[in-house]
Parts: sequence; C-alpha cells; structure tokens
Amino acid sequence: MRVLVTGGGGYIGSHAVRALQNAGHAPIVLDNLVHGHRDLVEQVLQAPLVVAQLGDSQQLQAILTHQHIEAVLHFAAYTTVGESVADPASYYRNNLGDTMVLLEAMVREGQCRNRPPMPLVFSSTCATYGHPEQMPIPEDCPQQPINPYGRSKWMVEILIRDWAAAYGLPAVILRYFNAAGADPAGDLGEDHTPETHLIPRVLHTIGGKRPGPLMIYGDDYPTPDGTCLRDYTHVADLAHAHVLALEAIYRPAAGHRPSLLTYNLGTGQGHSVREVIAAAEAVTGCPLQVSVAPRRPGDPPVLVAATDKAKQELGWSPRLSQLSTMVRHAWVWHQRRHGCRRTS
Ligand SMILES: NC(=O)c1ccc[n+]([C@@H]2O[C@H](COP(=O)([O-])OP(=O)(O)OC[C@H]3O[C@@H](n4cnc5c(N)ncnc54)[C@H](O)[C@@H]3O)[C@@H](O)[C@H]2O)c1
Repeated sequence: MRVLVTGGGGYIGSHAVRALQNAGHAPIVLDNLVHGHRDLVEQVLQAPLVVAQLGDSQQLQAILTHQHIEAVLHFAAYTTVGESVADPASYYRNNLGDTMVLLEAMVREGQCRNRPPMPLVFSSTCATYGHPEQMPIPEDCPQQPINPYGRSKWMVEILIRDWAAAYGLPAVILRYFNAAGADPAGDLGEDHTPETHLIPRVLHTIGGKRPGPLMIYGDDYPTPDGTCLRDYTHVADLAHAHVLALEAIYRPAAGHRPSLLTYNLGTGQGHSVREVIAAAEAVTGCPLQVSVAPRRPGDPPVLVAATDKAKQELGWSPRLSQLSTMVRHAWVWHQRRHGCRRTS
C-alpha cells in the first residue's frame, strides 16, 4: 500500500515509516521539517520525502494524485502543551486548520477516483481526556481537554467523526499516552528542541547535555511515591499499532465495513517520575541529582490507559514497553545522536 505519512520526519512518524516498510508497504513522507529531521527520512529510512506544509492544498492534492496514495497516517502537529497555552492561534492553525485541508483533499481525491475516500489513521492523545473521570481511562470516557493542544486534537477528532458520517471517510483514531524509547537498532529516536518529555530530559541531564539538577514537579501527589504516574509505551510498539490499524480499516473482515474506530494505545501500567529516574540510573550506571519543585498546574496525578479494546479488536499488545527496555533503547539513541556520555 502507498501510504502518505504526514509528520514522518518526527519522532513517532519516523518509527511508523519503518514499521510500514517492514510490513511491505511503501511510505511517502510529508513534513515541513519545522521539528522533523531530513537525515532520518532520507538517509536512515531511505524513504521519499516531500518538504511541504500540510495546509498547502495544491501541493497536497498533487501528492495524493501523482503518488497514487492509498491511505494516510497523520502525525503532523505541534505537540507542546506550554507553547499551546502561550500561542493557541498557531496550534489551532497548524493542528486543526491544516488537518481540515487534509480531510478535504482526501474526499476530493476519492471523488476524482470515483471511490470513497482513502483511509486515515490519526494521532490523537490522552490529553483529550483532560482530568479523566475514570482510571484506567476507557475510550468512551468523557473528553474534557484542559489546554489548547488537547483541544486542537479533540476538535480534529470531531472533524473526523463528521467526515466519516457525511463522506464515508474510513478512519482510525489512536489516542497515545506517553511515547518512549527508540528503535532497537539505535538509528531512530526522539530529537525535539526544546525537549519537554521526561525520559530524554533525564538522559540528557545524566549525559551532560543539559545542566542539572532535574526538576521533579510535585512529590505530594496521592500516588505511592508522591510523584505523577504516566503510561509509557515503546515507540516501536506504537508504530506497529499503526500498521494493524491501517490493515483493519483498509481490509475489513468480510461483511464488516467500519467507518470509524477509536483506540487507546498504552500499556495500562503507570510509572512514576521517581521510577523513571531510578530506571535511568540503573541503565546508565550514573546517579542523577534531582530537585523538587511545586506541582505544575494541569498535571493530573495519574494517566493510565484502559487497553482491552486495542488488544481485542486490533490484536495489538505492546512487546517492548517495559520501562527498563524503553530507557535502555533511548540511552543507546541519545549517546549516538547527542553524544550523551556518563558524567560520573
Ligand atoms: N510524543 C508523544 O508522547 C505523543 C503523545 C500523544 C500524541 N502524540 C501525537 O503524535 C504525533 C507525533 O508526535 P511526535 O512526538 O512524533 O511529534 P514530532 O514533533 O516529533 O513530529 C511531528 C512532525 O510533524 C511535522 N509537522 C508539524 N506540523 C506540520 C505541518 N503543518 N505540516 C507539515 N509537517 C508538520 C514536524 O516537523 C514534525 O516532524 C503528534 O500528532 C502528537 O500530537 C504524541
């Protein structure tokens, strides 16, 4: 299958490109390279790269037509909560506005080919749940996002639902929790500037790439060690789920033509900030200096996915998502990419 991967130069998208290649599909990357990496797409993955803004409708339509695209994995988005609070307009323009251009182009392309629109797999997030009413969080938990990033993703989910109902868009919405780790081969991984995710921040501090101490935001939460619990999933496991989702919507079982499917992607197990730090100290063999700061507004104490639906319907189970494995793979990557070295 010829698959357009928007945001395929970024962290999760680049791993999805590899998973598609391994499954015998032909991914084509569209990325504006604002946060993506040309070298990973062209040299490591050796995949075709179109450097473009998703919202450029003419260029997008030309790609869908001339590259004979059969499905889209849509990762392209701005992803930093704090930035979205400071500049919501850029988040709604990029995440919502550009996605609407994509959806319109997919419908138009279907009409030109005299077919229903091609399938879409969309990267959504647990941030659409806000402060969830249930834990672990099932897919039908009310969505009440509490920041512009989460709201932009939730609004895209609403667009997709309306497009599925009105235009027959086949779509899978995947709500990730915390992506972590790096490809086991060590040649793909996370490279964000600025880096806001916990595991790379811990490893960069241990590896001398950022000054210590590492801040722990709140150690008085109602959790076993007082720090927040998050559901970390290996990025290669997430990537594999996209291949399964694509196949589920592209070749549905006989007599069953779903139009819209929604799944959480997580492990169902939470790890605290202190557990992540301990895992990184064990993997690297280095102690980490930490300092406790007050809680950040908007951080729920626990975010853990209910995972039964993806398991039962997609046949997806995470295989590499043990905390020590994720941290080990991330450490190999950060040593190679950023020159992180043990500092003590
Ligand atoms: N990383 C996580 O833990 C996590 C958790 C939940 C959801 N997600 C979602 O997964 C997706 C991928 O996240 P990531 O961590 O890989 O982010 P990332 O920033 O590494 O990748 C996003 C890519 O999209 C590109 N891009 C952004 N806007 C674009 C646009 N308008 N046109 C073209 N290219 C554009 C960027 O250059 C970047 O390469 C995002 O949609 C994010 O909301 C991520």
